[in-house]
Amino acid sequence: MKIVGKKIRRVDGSEKAYGNSRYSADYRFDRMLVCGVKRAGVAHAILKKIDTASAERIDGIVKIATYVDVPGENNLGLVIDDMPLLVPEGGKIRYEGDAVALVVAEDEDVLEEALEKIEIDYEPLEVVLDMRKAIEDRVKIHDTSNVRFHRKIRRGNVEKVLKESYIVVSMDFETGYQEHAYLETQGILSVVEDDGSITIYGSMQCPFYVREHVSRILGLPQNMVNVVQVETGGAFGGKEDVPSYVAAKSALMAYLTKRPVKLIYRREEDFIETSKRHPSFSHYDVGFSKDGKITAVKAQIYLDMGAYATLSPIVMYRTLIHSCGAYKVDNVHVDVYGVYTNKVPSGAFRGFGSPQVLFAIETIMDEAAKRLGIDRWDIRYINALDVGDETSTGQRLDHSVGAKKTLLNVKEMSNYEKLKKEVEEFNARNKYKKRGIGVSHIFYGVSLGAGGQHLDASGAEVHVHPDGSVTIMIGGTEMGQGARTTMAMIASEILGQRIEKIRVLKPQTSIVQDSGPTVASRTTLFSGNAVKIACEKIRDRMVKYLAGRFGVPESDVSIEYGYYRVGNEKIEFDEIAKMCDSSNVKLFEVGWFVSPKLNFDMENGVGEAYITYTYASQITLAEVDLLTGKEKVLEVWVSHDVGKIINLDGVVGQIHGGTVQGIGYALYEKLVYDEDGKMLTTNFNNYTIPTIKDVPRIHIKMVEEEYKEGPFGAKGIGEPSLMVSPPSVASAISDAVKVRFTRLPITPEEVILKLTERGG
Ligand code: MOS
Repeated sequence: MKIVGKKIRRVDGSEKAYGNSRYSADYRFDRMLVCGVKRAGVAHAILKKIDTASAERIDGIVKIATYVDVPGENNLGLVIDDMPLLVPEGGKIRYEGDAVALVVAEDEDVLEEALEKIEIDYEPLEVVLDMRKAIEDRVKIHDTSNVRFHRKIRRGNVEKVLKESYIVVSMDFETGYQEHAYLETQGILSVVEDDGSITIYGSMQCPFYVREHVSRILGLPQNMVNVVQVETGGAFGGKEDVPSYVAAKSALMAYLTKRPVKLIYRREEDFIETSKRHPSFSHYDVGFSKDGKITAVKAQIYLDMGAYATLSPIVMYRTLIHSCGAYKVDNVHVDVYGVYTNKVPSGAFRGFGSPQVLFAIETIMDEAAKRLGIDRWDIRYINALDVGDETSTGQRLDHSVGAKKTLLNVKEMSNYEKLKKEVEEFNARNKYKKRGIGVSHIFYGVSLGAGGQHLDASGAEVHVHPDGSVTIMIGGTEMGQGARTTMAMIASEILGQRIEKIRVLKPQTSIVQDSGPTVASRTTLFSGNAVKIACEKIRDRMVKYLAGRFGVPESDVSIEYGYYRVGNEKIEFDEIAKMCDSSNVKLFEVGWFVSPKLNFDMENGVGEAYITYTYASQITLAEVDLLTGKEKVLEVWVSHDVGKIINLDGVVGQIHGGTVQGIGYALYEKLVYDEDGKMLTTNFNNYTIPTIKDVPRIHIKMVEEEYKEGPFGAKGIGEPSLMVSPPSVASAISDAVKVRFTRLPITPEEVILKLTERGG
């Protein structure tokens, strides 16, 4: 291939490096107002009265809106509409971040003052922060039970098989929040146009979700709401549904004032109001045969949804499917519950409900290996999936299963046997510094899966201009991950145009069809296929035209890089475009890719859960100072099967970032609430994330088991790059300290606490 799989300079790299890229906060419009959100500030209460009178008297305040000002529906939500845009008087406040009023002002200074002067009267209710307390249902947060959603897998005969198993490993796990920590906070601008339509500009993963919400709260048809994604400074799932709620606020104020409105969250308000990774607790009973084969998995898993459901029901599906890890398991009995509490709504975060359970099952693999006297790498290899095997939901894998190759790669790269000896020697020499090795193995379902098939299609529009330059618009978004470069590479490969002549535009909902969200590690596969389909149609037409013009069969025309060859003649792509244009040949096409259909029984959780899976393995070397608890991840060997690699640098970049974000989840990141439901960690001074100093040496070796429905055989990498990291890091820390850690994050304090419990 000419360009696919090669190291290519990022197409939007220099505009970012030179500071030319404009993010939400960089946009200005004539007569623009700034917007602020008055939040409840209490976690659970009945809202009695909102008093805006004294705030309204401030000079420079243009408008204050409450629930009475919403022209359409006053509720938000992706799966169920349980969240008010603005809490009504007489309604309920369910977490401190609930919005009660919106203010627009001529400038920032008066905005702050006005927000402070809005007074709310409320009757406090008992606050429920702990999931275990919420499950008791003594205090209900909504009209339903706090345990609002349930998903399950029922396969085989778990009770009987567990009884007959050689050993059963029973363990409890707990995992904490994780904040996305995107560099750019949430931000949306809304502009009312001459014809009364509204244009939304903002930082987001899914413009189509934003359109749906804005249209709903304003009561406008969807053709009157054009959502334009602007440069987005990181998202990681945190901008899947959340921008819809930010846009609803911004759009409402623009609609009411007929002036452009800019709403940019400060870091603290972003922390308090917007989604995080779900905290969880779980109980697992896993049976093993004497030779280390998993016989059965029984698990109960609880996810903390916070105050509103948002994406939780879909997150729970992914939790369910990944609960048994990347292994062959025939007997499965898993329950996943989504629980309301009076905290920030949990939502999408890279991995989408799977890191919690992958940590659990991988820790169990370590424990089983120890009890059975089997090496930790071996027990994973014994249970790993292969072509012809069935997953824990009974999905038969007929091709593209590189699981075992990833395991073999990390073993070889790390020189595993030698590494184990070196660590033993190091630990014998050092009394207070101990090293440990971690092993992990995971899989990841690419696409929205069986429950999301109605959304699982993507579009692309491709134009070849008369001078041969190309523009592409996909319904997917670039948020830093490199999608624009990947799309340009696919177009370049198919069309035969040089990559520097291809521009990838930002999506607009009025132009490109609803392509679903840019999530689920699906963009290379879905948008990539859509681009490929559109480019193929144009290329075929160009070939046909050339063959006719030169009087040769079409098979005599070959696509090169920057030119086509017709017989012995070399014709520049730009020249062909010009000829086609002046001969009225259509050089504009739409590509539309629809997910292969999945057959899944939702009631029993059995069947084809995702269109394909990626696989990954990691070995980690870490060091712990037993006197201070300080941990350091020294070196990481990681291997991913992503199908055919398209954008090599993009893949490597995802793995570097994911590895480090996974270290943060495993070791550092801890979100804390006080007992009244006020978040205490609302900025990076006390919410600790990894910095460049925490980045280990990362060694990568890829596996490319091609997937037949992927563009050139590609699967995906966005999320698995993170998910393989935390279990491996945790495993290394447990190995170093010789204590089994079952709670994330394993902070230095946690290490010292466990060492003290152990008495030494
Ligand atoms: Mo993602 S967590 O599928 O945006």
